[in-house]
Amino acid sequence: MAAYFESLNLRGFAHWMRIQAKEEMGHAMKFFEYLIERQGKVVLEAIEAPSFKWKSPTNVFEDSYNHERKITESIHKIVELAGSEKDHATTIFLQWFVQEQVEEEASANEILQKLNIIGNEPSALFVLDSELGKRPSK
Ligand SMILES: [Fe+2]
Ligand SMILES: [Fe+2]
Repeated sequence: MAAYFESLNLRGFAHWMRIQAKEEMGHAMKFFEYLIERQGKVVLEAIEAPSFKWKSPTNVFEDSYNHERKITESIHKIVELAGSEKDHATTIFLQWFVQEQVEEEASANEILQKLNIIGNEPSALFVLDSELGKRPSK
């Protein structure tokens, strides 16, 4: 997604996506470390290649937002599994992700809604691009 935005010269959007990608890697590593700590087995499998083409910036954030919702559902499923297995430590570990997904959905949706308002207004798009370019890298 960052590469797509770079191809449109929307460098603020690209910056936002790069920061997001790093954050997501951090989330994956929390699972990695947790499995090791619990003497589980870490098995990394091939993942599907990501898309590289979208119809518009709005379309990218539609995909982003829908993906976050899918991730939320997956996390809720493992929360239910941990509960039914009476794995209390994992239930507590997962609470952070339940909270985090509230933020993840909200931030993707906020940008999507702004893009919907902007529509085909390039000057407004450039204002949003410079706003997203200021995202701190936490
Ligand atoms: Fe986040
Ligand atoms: Fe996310």
